[in-house]
Amino acid sequence: MSLFLCEPMNTMQFYVVRHLNLGDLRECFGSTVAVNGTQFGDEGKGKIVHTLGYVIDAYDFVRWAGGPNAGHTVCFDGETHKHHNMPSGATYRHALNIIGNGCVVDPIKLCGEIDTLEEAGYKLIPAPGGWGNLLIDRTAHIIMPWAIELDEFRERARGNDKIGTTGRGIGPTYMYKAGRSEAIRFYDILDQERFERRIKEVAKSERNQFETRFKETLPNIYNDPDYTGYIEERLGEYQQKFEQMGEELYPFCERLIPYIGDGGETIREHLERGMSIIFEGAQGTSIDIDHGTYPKVTSSNPTIGGVHTGTGYGGEIDTKIGVMKAYVSRVGSGAFPTKLSGDFAKRIRKVGGEYGTTTGRARDVGWLDLVQVNDSCKINGTNQLAWTKLDVLTQTVTEVKVCYAYEIDGSETQKFPHDDLILQRAVPKYETFKNLPRMTPGELIKDAEEGRFEKPIRKIKDYIEEYTSVPITIISVSPDRADTVIMV
Ligand code: IMP
Repeated sequence: MSLFLCEPMNTMQFYVVRHLNLGDLRECFGSTVAVNGTQFGDEGKGKIVHTLGYVIDAYDFVRWAGGPNAGHTVCFDGETHKHHNMPSGATYRHALNIIGNGCVVDPIKLCGEIDTLEEAGYKLIPAPGGWGNLLIDRTAHIIMPWAIELDEFRERARGNDKIGTTGRGIGPTYMYKAGRSEAIRFYDILDQERFERRIKEVAKSERNQFETRFKETLPNIYNDPDYTGYIEERLGEYQQKFEQMGEELYPFCERLIPYIGDGGETIREHLERGMSIIFEGAQGTSIDIDHGTYPKVTSSNPTIGGVHTGTGYGGEIDTKIGVMKAYVSRVGSGAFPTKLSGDFAKRIRKVGGEYGTTTGRARDVGWLDLVQVNDSCKINGTNQLAWTKLDVLTQTVTEVKVCYAYEIDGSETQKFPHDDLILQRAVPKYETFKNLPRMTPGELIKDAEEGRFEKPIRKIKDYIEEYTSVPITIISVSPDRADTVIMV
């Protein structure tokens, strides 16, 4: 098909991805594109990354933060794939998937993902040292089995004040990384001797910490000679447990060795050779460790700043796309001002399939919150928005509410508090949009093919764009790559 690429905004073109070929809109987004979530995660980033990767013919798909707490679903040509550690380009045979240094990786889960993809006909070939399609940065961190145990243990210990983590060992692994004595990096597994030495060091360190804490909190028991033998034995068992877990993990680590390389260097080389790069965010801005609703957040930076620290790429990012679901969902126990309940919420949850890709948990759902989205756009420097799951609204409601401000402690504000306790007290103020047409994804696509959307949809779009000062350039109306509208 012939395309008039990059027309000025006043002659904006509608492109429906089902009619596009690989690379058709390459010039429209620049050579570096970053995609991240503007809400609490689960905005549909996987689909947007996969789709944009197609339309710009991205060569590198780069994850910069998080790990198997993410669940990115991609659907195309009748196939569906769910990625956790793996970037969303794994089903493009020509593309390279890079797990950046800012990520944390569960070797057992990643080997499982590789197996599942290979069973589906997508071979993952090690990229370092030649052509391949998977590279794990040598300084990315490994989620050790004891980090998963600790994640679960700490959640139990929090009692009623749980974060509601995914239980994948994410927080403890980043904690070990920051702690600098017990982290295991991918370069630590490059040879078995080094790995075994590291595991022994970690096991010793864990034992010593346990012993010191015991000695200082219960000195009477610790110094009682009747207990000396018993305590020594238990501490020995504790130390041994770590060594055994390390030993059991090694075969999975060993399988990943050929994939270990230098992510940042690879990205820079590919850019010099004129290739396009897509940076794939996980989680969402409002659960960023620095900019989210602390402490009910994840432990990494899903915000755009994380691209640089989490990949080793320090250059310009041409297009920063914020993915914004047409409503909001949240898992875990953090504040959620626009949360809905009852049958209405059940309907949206059902039509939207709002169950965790990673954990299967039912997600809470609520109205679109522009205070939140605007905050995300400012933090990320977002210059385009992708509006996802519009079809869920057109199939469930005729009246849509959009939050434009909060009332907190008697004052109205349009500022999103990066503090869970304050956000808990926020009462949303809504703008209401009536007469949303009942439309299926097919009907929405048909309209887009004619270069238009119904007036109530346009009104909501205009309102969002005016509020955030960011244009919506992508509208997604089903999980399928084909059902995506690009307006450039
Ligand atoms: P963690 O990342 O497993 O430590 O979980 C911390 C918080 O972030 C919990 O509330 C999780 O439910 C939430 N979270 C982590 N990853 C995702 C995600 O990919 N989507 C949505 N929420 C997430």
